[in-house]
Amino acid sequence: MNDQQKSGFEFICKYSDLKDLEGKRFIIGETEIAVFKINNEIYALNNICPHQHTALIYDGLIEDGCVVCPAHGWKFDLRTGKKPSGSRGLDSYRVKIVDGDIFVQVISKGLNW
Ligand code: FES
Repeated sequence: MNDQQKSGFEFICKYSDLKDLEGKRFIIGETEIAVFKINNEIYALNNICPHQHTALIYDGLIEDGCVVCPAHGWKFDLRTGKKPSGSRGLDSYRVKIVDGDIFVQVISKGLNW
């Protein structure tokens, strides 16, 4: 097991695999995540919208530092996953880039709460 895996970070893809402003969906264990590259920064959020539980966050438009759920327009901050009102929205995950590889640390809700 390498160092990334030990600290809970899982490899998802190469940095060069992501296109600017275009989300991509990954599954780590039982968790679906939506990953975005915006202005060379990588963001990782849960892919399941809390409104009607559609797995479409990865397909959302990017607006003012938020991703907009394509189903009914709920917005989530890319950094925190929170709604603009500040209320809880999507889980957000830590991201590491090592030698052009992207790793995401997915902590399940069970451990979070
Ligand atoms: S399912 Fe996302 S806004 Fe309705």
